[in-house]
Amino acid sequence: MQVEITDTALADAKADIQALALQEGEELPGVLREVPGAADVKPAFKRTTMLRPLDGSRVLIVGLGKAGDVDRERLRVAAALAAKAAAPYEARSIAWEVPAIDGIAAGAAAAGLVEGTTLATFRFDRYRAADPDDPSPRIERLVLAGADRGEVGSDVDAARIASEAANRARELQSLPANELVPESLAERAWEIAAAHEAVSVEVLDRDQMVERGMGGLAAVSSGSETPPRLIALRYAGGEGERIGFVGKGVTFDSGGISIKPAAGMQEMKMDMSGAAAVLEAFAAIAELRLPLDLVAAIPATENMPSGSAMRPGDVIRHLNGKTTEINNTDAEGRLILADALTYCVRDLGAKRIVDIATLTGAVVIALGSTYAALIANDDEWAGRVAGAGDRSGELAWRLPLHPEYRELTKGKIADLTNAAAKRKAGTIYAAAFLEEFVDGVPWAHLDIAGTSWDVGREYVGSGPTGFGVRLLVELARSLA
Ligand code: BES
Ligand code: MN
Ligand code: ZN
Repeated sequence: MQVEITDTALADAKADIQALALQEGEELPGVLREVPGAADVKPAFKRTTMLRPLDGSRVLIVGLGKAGDVDRERLRVAAALAAKAAAPYEARSIAWEVPAIDGIAAGAAAAGLVEGTTLATFRFDRYRAADPDDPSPRIERLVLAGADRGEVGSDVDAARIASEAANRARELQSLPANELVPESLAERAWEIAAAHEAVSVEVLDRDQMVERGMGGLAAVSSGSETPPRLIALRYAGGEGERIGFVGKGVTFDSGGISIKPAAGMQEMKMDMSGAAAVLEAFAAIAELRLPLDLVAAIPATENMPSGSAMRPGDVIRHLNGKTTEINNTDAEGRLILADALTYCVRDLGAKRIVDIATLTGAVVIALGSTYAALIANDDEWAGRVAGAGDRSGELAWRLPLHPEYRELTKGKIADLTNAAAKRKAGTIYAAAFLEEFVDGVPWAHLDIAGTSWDVGREYVGSGPTGFGVRLLVELARSLA
């Protein structure tokens, strides 16, 4: 998305469509009141009305609803609705007047418009013949009118770069598992390193994982013919405490020997959404040159059933020496994250960690697609992650840890077991398991199984959301 910031008035901004937000109690500007169609305008939230002034311009009025209810999220939604309303006009550009809203800084308002517009124009059509009647929006240029670059510039840049990164993550999420394999994620990491001086990459193959004692990654990947990868990224962007991101990269989760039901199994190509979020957030942070010290670890593998697959009842030993008996081979994410978390702390030197993973079906039941689950061993760190979620609109709701949950994870013959016997507190159980592998550093876990796909908001719709990219970039901005 090409984004321009100008202090000229909306009416003077050159674009295929001009867009203007209206809150309840606000009047249309005088010049628009007599325009045909003006009587149809209502400021109700999500209501759009196209006005056609006699000079041939197109002015789209987008309702925001009650003034007190307007926030950055409503602006994302408004921007997405405008991009969609522009599609039938074959518009390639939109000029928005950045609305003045009580309680919202101009930078945040402008950022909301950039996010909504950029995310709404995502498309994934590489496997389809071109359709000349495709009704999806194709906005390539966004003008922010009536805005001061000095005031909104850094928020706008961050919003643009993070939203474009989110769209790249959505592309990775969409790719089928026969095309996107663990090595593809490693290739993307190399690409990011090649584009940014401050980024370096190291990739471990199966033999190296086994040699180092990453028993979780070795076990989960043992059923697949497609080789696994452990991808490590370093960003030397500045001083300060080293932050670590860890993202689950299961490129296809069949469940393994504890195989999933056929209905819906095709959706499990998205089980690498955490990895996609970490990769593209990393790229965005490097592009923004944020001054912080950051590392990432991405365990990437398939989870498949075969004659060489791990079995229920198997006992494995993780990188930190703890042992786990496998009750259910479909609880594979925690097994590979366990090794990656230890690696991130011990080898990459992270002093604080966020992991992000499509980890449990239980989180979809608990929180739907509105909030990711946030589980943490440190209140301050949890607050920072939740705050970044609020600002980015990628919401996270904290669930508790308690010593009793830790009891549930104890194994019969090993230190741990990977799945609860009675499906108690599935999302927290998984987090309590992961906590065993973070060496006590401040750690926050995001379970994004419900928020990665089919959220149904105006700007992400059905399909991949890139959830986590914008949250992680916002977190990094708050630390830099
Ligand atoms: N990848 C799944 C979780 C998932 C569910 C992601 C729905 C996206 C949408 C994970 O590996 C899994 O299979 N979890 C099991 C754990 C259980 C066996 C303890 C689950 O949630 O059913
Ligand atoms: Mn699984
Ligand atoms: Zn999984």
